[in-house]
Amino acid sequence: MKEKIEEIKNLAKESIKTAEDLKALDEIRVKYLGKKGELTAILRGMGSLSAEERPIVGSMVNEAKDDLEKIIKDKEELLKTQELEKKLEKEKIDITLPSDKIRRGSKHPINRVIEELEDLFVSMGYDVVDGPELETDEYCFERLNLPKGHPARDMQDSFYVTSEYLLRTQTSAVQARVMMANKEKTPIRVICPGKTYRRDDDATHSHQFGQIEGLVIDKNISLADLKGTLEVFVKKMLGENSKLRFRPSYFPFTEPSYEVDVSCFKCGGKGCNLCKHTGWIEILGSGMVHPNVLKMNGYDPEVYSGFAFGTGLDRLAMFKFGIPDIRMLYTNDIRFLNQFDRKED
Ligand code: PHE
Repeated sequence: MKEKIEEIKNLAKESIKTAEDLKALDEIRVKYLGKKGELTAILRGMGSLSAEERPIVGSMVNEAKDDLEKIIKDKEELLKTQELEKKLEKEKIDITLPSDKIRRGSKHPINRVIEELEDLFVSMGYDVVDGPELETDEYCFERLNLPKGHPARDMQDSFYVTSEYLLRTQTSAVQARVMMANKEKTPIRVICPGKTYRRDDDATHSHQFGQIEGLVIDKNISLADLKGTLEVFVKKMLGENSKLRFRPSYFPFTEPSYEVDVSCFKCGGKGCNLCKHTGWIEILGSGMVHPNVLKMNGYDPEVYSGFAFGTGLDRLAMFKFGIPDIRMLYTNDIRFLNQFDRKED
């Protein structure tokens, strides 16, 4: 009997050693240790043994069972690790390999305009500054000489989040922020490009649009400085042959105020559908910073003066690239965006 148990054990050990996977190992477990397994069969057949033999054989079988169970468990661990290693090997990614080529995107037309303007103004000594899109009523209006109830607020009827916070309707809000942050420090020469929001929606107006603001404050700044600066700006953006026309206008934060037109770059001023047969296209608002605005934001209007201007980035992009509908700039249609390849960068 002892030899038989020994033999079963050795056979079992042999097949455990050569088991190739967990499934095979499980079959071996069933074959030797299962309810109908070979060692269990010996225990069952113990009835025919003598009373002395029984406990000896019983403990031998149990020992053999314990032994095999332990070996099976070790083998199981080993197989599991091997299988994991195999899987890892198969799924290994060589991160040093060159990747598949991904087509590079193109720069958005509005970003192109912003970059071009930043290059230009930085070359003239301006800083580029940023302001919050969620703005307070105070900075968007009050500090720009538009107190609550001012009728000019109507033109910018817009998105209020609370009665004190709104999505800014103009980048002019940054003017007050820059002045308040510098208080009497001069010169101030900044441009602030960014997103603005109004309740508008048609082919030339979007509820979200881009503006760029310019602000200069120093001693002895005059209208001549404003004109000279805008001339450089417009010629650079829309062509050296552009002519400028200053029309008196009204903005609560500038005095005097001007609407600036540029001679039509499509027809050269003769009159066409783009300029509605007037020869001129309106492109920006501007003026000398209102004394109230200077005073309210920390500058003595007797000592300092300044100019400001603001224009729509979308309009500039539309003119520059011949885009017929402002909404094309915001709908992320890849067929549209792909047309602005990087070649021109
Ligand atoms: N903020 C004005 C607008 O949105 C434009 C402007 C800016 C006018 C600066 C004058 C000076 O219409």
